[in-house]
Amino acid sequence: MNLLQKDYTRAKKEGKILVALTAYDYPLARLLDESGVDLILVGDSLGMVVLGYPDTTSVSLNDMLHHTRAVARAVERATVVADLPKGVYDDPEGALTSARALIAAGAHGVKLEGGQERAGIISALTKEGISVLAHIGMLPQHIHEEGGYKIKGRTPQQADRLFEDAAAVERAGAFGVVLELVTPPLAREISRTLAIPTIGIGSGDGCDGQIRVLHDVIGLYPWFRPKFVEPKADVATVIRDAVQSYARDVRKGPEV
Ligand code: KIV
Repeated sequence: MNLLQKDYTRAKKEGKILVALTAYDYPLARLLDESGVDLILVGDSLGMVVLGYPDTTSVSLNDMLHHTRAVARAVERATVVADLPKGVYDDPEGALTSARALIAAGAHGVKLEGGQERAGIISALTKEGISVLAHIGMLPQHIHEEGGYKIKGRTPQQADRLFEDAAAVERAGAFGVVLELVTPPLAREISRTLAIPTIGIGSGDGCDGQIRVLHDVIGLYPWFRPKFVEPKADVATVIRDAVQSYARDVRKGPEV
């Protein structure tokens, strides 16, 4: 068992509920770390909320390395996990080289999307001592094939497949598994059967932890927010108000 797998399996056994959020830069990662978040994901969602792409499919390994270094410089206590972007982990050699680069950039582990079809890649990484967070259910890197962000597990076939995916990534050595847009009763049931923790996003409250895109939670990306997110702040409005106040002061000119 690798280190994170041991820690995270123990945390689940002790009934700890994991709090995870994404971060992509130094100040926000530092604020999350200071706030006691357990796991910070440098997600390839940075493609949308930081780089302005329509989805995650154009994110490169260099993008991920750049943002992982910034986050790693900020974090003192949380687990830092970095996404392997689409296209760099289709074979074990590519996966190992890319994962090692993310670890050298400061990540404690890497996340990759897929279940049974990725079990061989997950074992190849974990056997080399690289901690892996798996990700099943809706897979954003396959958004074009999927044709949208659709809920998974509604049919008995999909439910069986998700159970098998979850078991396969656990057997392959993943320390945890993200369940994205999985029907809540199924997510609860999968969580009950695994020894490793499940971390849900849009999958109900029966998971062992929750993850969200930070920008959705704090209202920093006001142009789109998934329905399942409960925003806790409206940072976009705070920024617009502050900038408009600054602009008014500047345009007033010097006081004479
Ligand atoms: O890229 C990402 O942010 C993710 C999530 C699970 C939020 O994969």
